[in-house]
Formats: sequence, C-alpha cells, structure tokens
Amino acid sequence: MTTVDSSEREARADLYVPMSAQVVDVQQMTDLEVLLRAAFDGGRPLDHCPGQFVQVSVLGVGECPISVCSSPTRPDYFELCVRRVGEVTAHIHRLEKGSVIGIRGPLGRGFDVAELHGKDILIVAGGLGIAPARSLIQYVLDERQQFGAFHLLYGVRSPAELLYRDDLTLWRESPDVNFHVTVDRPDEQWRGRSGVVTTLFRELPQLDPTETMVAIIGPPLMFKFAVLEVLARRIPQNSIYCSLERRMKCGVGICGHCQVNNVYACLDGPVFKYGQLKALREALE
Ligand SMILES: Cc1cc2nc3c(=O)[nH]c(=O)nc-3n(C[C@H](O)[C@H](O)[C@H](O)COP(=O)(O)OP(=O)(O)OC[C@H]3O[C@@H](n4cnc5c(N)ncnc54)[C@H](O)[C@@H]3O)c2cc1C
Ligand code: FES
Repeated sequence: MTTVDSSEREARADLYVPMSAQVVDVQQMTDLEVLLRAAFDGGRPLDHCPGQFVQVSVLGVGECPISVCSSPTRPDYFELCVRRVGEVTAHIHRLEKGSVIGIRGPLGRGFDVAELHGKDILIVAGGLGIAPARSLIQYVLDERQQFGAFHLLYGVRSPAELLYRDDLTLWRESPDVNFHVTVDRPDEQWRGRSGVVTTLFRELPQLDPTETMVAIIGPPLMFKFAVLEVLARRIPQNSIYCSLERRMKCGVGICGHCQVNNVYACLDGPVFKYGQLKALREALE
C-alpha cells in the first residue's frame, strides 16, 4: 500500500503545523466522555470526510488523535467525542467554552461516500465506535435522498455508557433510519433490548448483497462477531468497511508508529475495507 519517500515526507511536514480552533460548546455526555464542538477562527470549514480524524493538541501537554464525530454537511463547526483515559484526554476534559485548541488535519482516509451513494447502508457501532460512526450517520441523514434503506445497530455494555442521547431519541423517532439499540447488561430502569449488538441482526429485513454497503465500527471482539453476521448474509468483503485504530504519533505517515507490514493506519486508514484488513492478520488481533 503506501510507501513514503523523502520528498513526500517533506511535503507532509506541513501537516505537523496545528491550526488554532476555539471550543464553542462542551457537553459532558457520561462520566468518561465529553462532546466538544469547535470552530476555526474566521469560520473556515474543516472539510473532512466521515471517518477521518484530527490530532488535537493542548498547549504544554501534548496531542492525540480523535475522530471527527460530526458530518461535513454541517460545516460551521466540527465535533469531537473524547473519552478520558490518560493525560492529554484528561486535559481536554478540563477545556471550557472559549478555550483554544490546536488541530492538525483532517487526517487519514475516511469512508468513500461516493461509493456509498445509491446503496443501502448498514452501520453497526459498538461502544466508542459510535463516535466515528456518527459522522457517517449524520451524513446519510443529511443527504438522505442519495441512499437506499438505512439500518443502524448500536450496542454498549450498560445504559450509563450510551452516548449522544439526544441523537438516539431523534434516530428512534425518525422514519429515515431503521435504528435499534441494545445494552449487554441492563439496569432496573432500562426498558429497551438487552444482549450483545449482534443480537440486533434479528431486527434487520433481508439485505440485498449486491446493493448493501456495511460499516462496522467498534472494539475488536465486536468486530469479529459482527463481520460473521454480515458475511452470513452474503455481503462481499469489499462492501464491508471497518475502522482500525492503531496507536498513532505523527498521524501523517512519518514516524511509523501505526505501521502494520506495509500499511500505515494513519494514511491508508483508519477506515479500511474488510478485504484489505483480512490480509493483515496482526491488525485484526
Ligand atoms: C484514528 C484514531 C481515532 C481515535 N478517535 C478517538 C475518539 O473519537 N475519541 C476518543 O476518546 N479516543 C479516540 N482515539 C483514542 C485516543 O487517541 C487515545 O485515547 C488518546 O491518544 C489517549 O491519550 P492520553 O494522553 O489521554 O492517554 P495515554 O496516557 O496516552 O494512554 C492512556 C491509556 O489509553 C490507552 N490508549 C492510548 N491510545 C490508544 C489507542 N489509540 N487505542 C486504544 N488505547 C489507547 C493507553 O494504552 C493507556 O492505557 C482515537 C485513536 C485513533 C488512533
Ligand atoms: S502515526 Fe506516524 S506513521 Fe502513522
């Protein structure tokens, strides 16, 4: 796949320069996840594709890759859902409306939306995988006439981990999407479905293998079982997209941190076709 020569490396060095963006809204979604809405000075759009990511930097602390979770069809701002796991993400959680952050990107390869146009779409998201998925979900809903049937399956471990609750209500009520959600471990208040996300495949009508494109985004174990369900419906491997989150540093194909064989997850991905990833056993483990 990607080979990076020295002249290309120099050209990409520009991508090391962060642009300043302002946090225009902050919403604490769960104990661990915050939703930031940000905008560049002067209102310049981020111009991303669903599935791409940015490197978010906090001055004096560091930077980390975060998927863009809003759609390019909403160009006045971009949104980032950040789970607090370590130092940089803890600092991101302390940001307030008006804080300034550095943004490099958009980076990587997202979903090929032109290839998705005219197709039936199935998105299967697990846990934090709903963050990159949401950019594509919003895109399909905003450009609804460009797509056939739209099915969305979402699973989390417990009700407290559900993200984007306002969106979930909208999707549940919308005639534009066949949306189902489940939790592995229900609590006393939960009135919805329980069980792992693959149990939601029962809710799907028959899928047309030649007309359906699938995106599966979630932890490796979920991916493994979801892909079996999809393959059992005779959907070809190259109609299945998945997102691969390797550890990344530079995000632009220079440091080699994200490399698996001859593939750079930051350049060739993070969104891949299942057919491509299957050849990289290490990537799927
Ligand atoms: C392409 C891409 C998109 C991402 N999108 C999002 C997103 O939308 N929202 C979000 O919250 N996070 C996302 N991540 C993960 C995020 O980048 C890491 O959680 C972050 O770098 C951790 O930085 P830290 O300094 O807070 O923690 P660190 O101190 O660096 O690490 C804390 C803990 O998190 C683990 N960790 C760090 N990076 C990763 C990783 N890439 N995958 C799994 N575990 C990791 C470490 O092993 C350690 O246990 C994405 C990662 C990639 C590569
Ligand atoms: S993160 Fe540096 S090469 Fe991909």
